[in-house]
Amino acid sequence: MRICVVGAGYVGLVSAAVFADWGHDVVCLDNDPLKIGRIRAGNLPVYEPGLPEMVSRNMEKKSLRFTTDWEVAVKDRELVMVAVGTPPGEDGHPNLTALWNVVKSLKASIRDHVLVAIKSTVPVGTCAAVSRFLNEDREGRFDIISAPEFLRQGSAINDFMSPDRMVIGCRTEAARQSMKELFEPLDCPVIFTDWQSSEMIKYAANAYLAMKISFINTIANLCEEADANIYQVALGIGLDRRIGPAFLKPGIGFGGSCLPKDTKALVALGETYGVNVSLFQEVLRINHEQRVRIVKKLEARLEGLAGKRIAVLGLAFKANTNDVREAPALAIIHQIVQAGGQVVAYDPVVDMKDLSPLYGFTPAEDAYQAVTHADAAVLLTEWDEFYGLELERVRELMNQPLLVDGRNLFAPQVMRQLGFHYIPVGISE
Ligand code: UGA
Repeated sequence: MRICVVGAGYVGLVSAAVFADWGHDVVCLDNDPLKIGRIRAGNLPVYEPGLPEMVSRNMEKKSLRFTTDWEVAVKDRELVMVAVGTPPGEDGHPNLTALWNVVKSLKASIRDHVLVAIKSTVPVGTCAAVSRFLNEDREGRFDIISAPEFLRQGSAINDFMSPDRMVIGCRTEAARQSMKELFEPLDCPVIFTDWQSSEMIKYAANAYLAMKISFINTIANLCEEADANIYQVALGIGLDRRIGPAFLKPGIGFGGSCLPKDTKALVALGETYGVNVSLFQEVLRINHEQRVRIVKKLEARLEGLAGKRIAVLGLAFKANTNDVREAPALAIIHQIVQAGGQVVAYDPVVDMKDLSPLYGFTPAEDAYQAVTHADAAVLLTEWDEFYGLELERVRELMNQPLLVDGRNLFAPQVMRQLGFHYIPVGISE
């Protein structure tokens, strides 16, 4: 199939690379010349394991090209897949400026029949509005498909190629057949729905995952006080097939560009329709509280943070990504700094150059430098590198061996034997 993918972010790049790998002829378009220049030079804008190799392999085969030129990108294409960002707006509703710019350009540059698949996460009703706009001159010229994506950053390629299901919202048999053919390599159920249901599935899935995390964090907080162990509890409830074991890891709350944004978008949707969505407001409130709670733990153990030196290990919102959008670590650093603490932070992949002056922390070269003379360390991203730390060296370097672990990376007993004052989540001290 001749495909144009619009948007070279996480979803766009991964989709374009995988389609090319499957043998399709793919052009990926982005309006940022710097980004396209970097990608062509082999320097991807996102850190995603396996993606650079897949992109360069297909660029060499010429099955994947990158451009900023609309005419080049959409010429002779059978399918245009839109994967531009829909960041949160002020009012909680996603900002659809980029999406509508693409749609307007499509209308201006495409004359023949074409399939347009919307992969961006868009509010319920968007596909219908896009279809109305694109087809106002000639009915049926643009065949719109809602194709939400469920991949996770950090395991994007694997998730894209082995999804639990595909959801396709479409109106015509031609669109349905094309999507069947396109996703033929996938071994998973494919659900065909109307546009609105497909759009709603994407939000509902992310809000459910967010709800599960706020749920387990609440139980974890109870475990800490009631002398129970969150791992035993999560195992015990997760084995109930109606609940399932995934997304029951307690920690510092969810971050990233999707779970917070999509839960907020559902709150906004509820307000639009006058439907009570306080459940989602509570999920967000609990998520915020979880970040406050970890700082309170630190404050209590150190009897105040003023003048204290705190090592922060990990800035990314989760491991295997360099993304710090809505990263709990940044919110936690902000609180520590507000309380008068001095933060020295380290992350294996996040570029700290611009972040350090903005958030008022000192960047460290490695974890050992970060913990040197620290009054406490807070572990906020579950990087593999931190599992491998020489813990005795860490303890020796610190002023006092207080480790608040927001990701429960270590076994509490071992840490205590090593002489740490170790504070995990959901396990009483
Ligand atoms: C999320 C969804 O998992 C994907 O299915 C979806 O496609 C994507 O959003 C999207 O809408 O694009 P992602 O944001 O990449 O994916 O990351 P997740 O793995 O879902 O993690 C989100 C946050 O929850 C992270 O901060 C993570 O540390 C936290 N988390 C996750 C927990 O605190 N506990 C858990 O058990 C799982």
